[in-house]
Amino acid sequence: MKRTIHLLVALLLCGQCLLAQEYTSRTLSLMPWPQEVHKAPGKLVIDSSFSVSVSSKKGRVYQKAVNLIRSITDRTGVFVNRGFPRIQQSSTVTIQFDEVAVLGEKIDESYELSVSTAGAIIKAKTDVGALHGMETLLQLLQFDEHSFYIPGIRIKDAPRFAWRGLMIDVARHFQPMAVLKRNLRAMAALKMNVFHWHLSDDQGFRVASKVFPKLQELASDGQYYTQREVKELVAYAGSLGIRVVPEIDVPGHATAILTAYPEYGSKKGESYTIERYAGVFDPTLNPANPEVYSFLATLFKEVSSLFPDPYFHIGGDENEGKHWDQNVEIQQLKKKHGWTTNHEVQTYFNIQLEAILKSYGKKLMGWDEIMTKDMPTSAIIHSWRGRNEGFPNGTLIEAVKKGYQVVLSNDYYIDRMQSVLHHRKFDPLKNGALTAAQEALVLGGEVTMWSELVTPLTIDSRIWPRTAGIAELFWSKAEVVDDPNFISRLKTMDLYLDQMGITHRKNKDQILRNITKSSTVASVQLLTEYFEPLKIYERNKDGVEYKSFSPFTLFADACTADAYGALELNTLIDEYLKFGKERTKKEIIAILKRWQRGYQAFKSLAPNPNLVCLTEHYKAMALIGERLEKALSNTVALRDDVALRTTIKKLETPLVDTEFMVLPSLKRLFGHLGVALAEGGKKS
Ligand code: ACM
Repeated sequence: MKRTIHLLVALLLCGQCLLAQEYTSRTLSLMPWPQEVHKAPGKLVIDSSFSVSVSSKKGRVYQKAVNLIRSITDRTGVFVNRGFPRIQQSSTVTIQFDEVAVLGEKIDESYELSVSTAGAIIKAKTDVGALHGMETLLQLLQFDEHSFYIPGIRIKDAPRFAWRGLMIDVARHFQPMAVLKRNLRAMAALKMNVFHWHLSDDQGFRVASKVFPKLQELASDGQYYTQREVKELVAYAGSLGIRVVPEIDVPGHATAILTAYPEYGSKKGESYTIERYAGVFDPTLNPANPEVYSFLATLFKEVSSLFPDPYFHIGGDENEGKHWDQNVEIQQLKKKHGWTTNHEVQTYFNIQLEAILKSYGKKLMGWDEIMTKDMPTSAIIHSWRGRNEGFPNGTLIEAVKKGYQVVLSNDYYIDRMQSVLHHRKFDPLKNGALTAAQEALVLGGEVTMWSELVTPLTIDSRIWPRTAGIAELFWSKAEVVDDPNFISRLKTMDLYLDQMGITHRKNKDQILRNITKSSTVASVQLLTEYFEPLKIYERNKDGVEYKSFSPFTLFADACTADAYGALELNTLIDEYLKFGKERTKKEIIAILKRWQRGYQAFKSLAPNPNLVCLTEHYKAMALIGERLEKALSNTVALRDDVALRTTIKKLETPLVDTEFMVLPSLKRLFGHLGVALAEGGKKS
């Protein structure tokens, strides 16, 4: 009897082990990775009987369920019998939620999802939680040679941070409604929930004002959103569970506003014109002019009424106050109050805006320069200049210690064109010696898509897929950043984003066809696999190379961060130098041969200036490819000679605003093959 009990206990425990068995990121390509993922028996095969039922037609779920069925049929090619969801009926996929959420910081976004052979069930407290569950279900779709299916699974999930944002700057380059809508859909797929709409800057004012129509008439080049469009976008985002926070950037970054209404500027008699370059400029609203506050009170009343979100972003960044220093009234104001710095003047300005917004039931949010002595702690500090105590401009830690809620963006500037792996090093809570109460003030993070070098043609390729990898930081457990299968999951997400209509892949092909002036693009496409746009603003150093109306259909615009060819070759070389496997060597050789064939194909294209400028680098890449290939194949030993060094030197120089991403790895391979290339080009 005792033995039987032992056996039973052992069986039960073992059963629990099995039940608790986790799916790993090797087998599933979910992003962001859920909080809990367990294997369950069976699988749900997608066939013609596939159907969806929702618990209520209220709220956001029904419309998403319509799209879910469309996505499943499009991706599988299966002809389903029921193309639209039903209400509370037995179906393959059942979605239940208790209440319709009012979007805000504190809503319940959790959900549970279980899938078995019999069907899938999504349960959530709110409709927004149910939306997240449906996105996860869509990401679970798998296939084998017989069928498309969703594997047996149990998922319990909820976000780590309440603020998972993306900012799009529509001032530097206007982004039409369709661009924003498709990016909102992608945000929803990645469980992001705040769209920060940077609506005004030196280069344009993008929302129509009925009270101050000169804003759109004189300061937008005709590229602005009507109020009907703004409401439409807010409603569209809301239907996806995404809040919209508008930003009107003041008192600096105000050239466009002052182009329309120069009387509110700090420099008397100045005739302002819309800025065409990138950078920080002097035109600034005049804090000593009472009419400026009436103007802003009226404008903010009008603009904020279009947005249900409680937060209104006033910018507040990068005001160097040069025009303030030249303005007598402002100097008198400073004297009167005993202020010695322009920062105190800006505090005075901000405090008035805070009161204005409060009277409209809005809370102020601003870039971290707004964090001054008298700013109420109801303001959200948007940290763009860093996190660390001791860092001269570090703000995240300083802000939470002062009791402010904070959103971190400093580490998520995707316009710097760095690798997603770089951005993923920066957890919003990492490095901070914060108490639990202080950590609770860190609302989350926001990716910033500044658009100086970004047009509707290229914006998707700058945002995605990197933002997917950053969104995971905002949703998943902190340890998920260490996932060795992240790049593999990202590649799956990359294709999924393409399938859902994000244009990062198809627009790249369009740019390449424009460069080759033909439909034959493979050889230039190959080049983009190893070159990436210059990083950290090197592409437009000091903002002087590109104006807002410059071409953005160049080789650099076809290139992206995280070029997959470079990632692959760097990994292979690493592995080869570590383990010396024959198979790895063969893969490297295959790539080097591809470079040589690519160059031959490139030479057969009809030359035009945008192609010819690529020739010397391509030739150098092919030459290096040939030398290394022969050395690795033991056909011809690698020799350190003038030709090799000249070729390397060429590849060290930028290629029309891009850089060759595999040179350090290649140099290590040279070393392995007996040619040591020390700094300065001398043999060590
Ligand atoms: C900023 O990047 N100036 C907020």
